[in-house]
Amino acid sequence: MAARLLLLFLFVSMATGDSQLPPGQRMKPRIQRDRRNIRPNIILILTDDQDVELGSMQAMNKTRRIMEEGGTFFSNAFVTTPMCCPSRSSMLTGKYVHNHNTYTNNENCSSLSWQRQHEPRTFGVYLNNTGYRTAFFGKYLNEYNGSYVPAGWREWLGLVKNSRFYNYTLSRNGVREKRGAQYPQDYLTDLITAESIQYFRSSKRIYPHRPVLMVLSHAAPHGPEDSAPQYSDAFANASARFDLSDRY
Ligand SMILES: *[C@@H]1O[C@H](CO)[C@@H](O)[C@H](O)[C@H]1NC(C)=O
Ligand SMILES: *[C@@H]1O[C@H](CO)[C@@H](O)[C@H](O)[C@H]1NC(C)=O
Ligand SMILES: *[C@@H]1O[C@H](CO)[C@@H](O)[C@H](O)[C@H]1NC(C)=O
Ligand SMILES: *[C@@H]1O[C@H](CO)[C@@H](O)[C@H](O)[C@H]1NC(C)=O
Ligand SMILES: *[C@@H]1O[C@H](CO)[C@@H](O)[C@H](O)[C@H]1NC(C)=O
Ligand SMILES: *[C@@H]1O[C@H](CO)[C@@H](O)[C@H](O)[C@H]1NC(C)=O
Repeated sequence: MAARLLLLFLFVSMATGDSQLPPGQRMKPRIQRDRRNIRPNIILILTDDQDVELGSMQAMNKTRRIMEEGGTFFSNAFVTTPMCCPSRSSMLTGKYVHNHNTYTNNENCSSLSWQRQHEPRTFGVYLNNTGYRTAFFGKYLNEYNGSYVPAGWREWLGLVKNSRFYNYTLSRNGVREKRGAQYPQDYLTDLITAESIQYFRSSKRIYPHRPVLMVLSHAAPHGPEDSAPQYSDAFANASARFDLSDRY
C-alpha cells in the first residue's frame, strides 16, 4: 500500500482571548477601531496516516467533535497526491506536485532544490511577512534532517526525519535536541501539545494584538504504534488488516 492518507484539521480561532461576548458580537467594536485585531489566530493541526479505511477517525470522538465545532470542517475536500512528502510539500506551498517536483518521500523531499525554490514561498513565510507570529511543532518533511530552520517560522521545533514517539531528534530553532523515552516529557504527541500551548500563551502575553499561526504537526497515529501508557489497553483486540511494516 503505497498511498497514505494524510488528514488535516484547520482550527481557526476568532477569539483574541479578551472577550466573553458570544461569537459575532465580540469582534465588532474592534473591527471599526483597529484592523489588526480582526485577523484570526490560525491553528493548523495535522495528523498522519489517520486512515478512514483503518477506522481511526472513530478513535477520538470527543476530540473530533471539539475540532469540528470550534474549527473549520471540510466536508468535501480532496488531496491530489495522497502520499506523505508530496502532500506536505503541497500544503506548505499550495502547489501541485508537478510544480514543486516532490514526487516521492525521498527524492526532492526537503532537497536543496526544494529549499531554494519552494521553501521560501510557504504560507509560513507569507503569514510571517504580514505580521503573524508563526510557529511550527512536530513532523515536517520526511527527509528533513534538522540542519537548518525553514524560512518563515519564528519558533521552530521540527522533527528530524520520519515519525517516532520516543528516542528521536528535534531541531529546536536550529539546535539539535535528542529526546529519550520518558513519558510524558519525551512523548512526541504530548510534547507538541505542551510546547504549542506554552508558545501561544507567551505570545499572547507579550504581543496581545498580534495574531498567531501555529502548525501542530502530529506524527500520530502513524507507526510505530507506541501509544501513551494510559491508552495502551484501549484497543485490546485491534489487529492490522494491512501490512503496515513499511510505513511512510
Ligand atoms: C465514535 O462514533 C462512531 C459513530 O460516529 C461510533 O461508531 C464509534 O463507536 C464511536 N467510538 C467510540 C470509541 O466511542
Ligand atoms: C527535483 O526537482 C528538480 C527541480 O526542482 C527537477 O528538475 C528534478 O527532476 C526533480 N527530481 C526528481 C527525482 O523528481
Ligand atoms: C542535511 O541535509 C543538507 C541538505 O539539505 C546537507 O547539506 C547536510 O549535509 C545534511 N546534514 C546531515 C547531518 O545529514
Ligand atoms: C518575519 O517577517 C519579518 C518582517 O518581514 C522579517 O523581518 C523576519 O525576518 C521574518 N522572520 C522569519 C523567521 O522569517
Ligand atoms: C529508547 O531507547 C532506550 C535506550 O536505548 C531503549 O531501551 C528503548 O527501548 C527505546 N524505546 C523506543 C520506543 O524506541
Ligand atoms: C477480545 O477477544 C476475546 C476473544 O475473542 C474476547 O473474549 C474479549 O472480550 C475481547 N476483548 C475486547 C476488549 O474486545
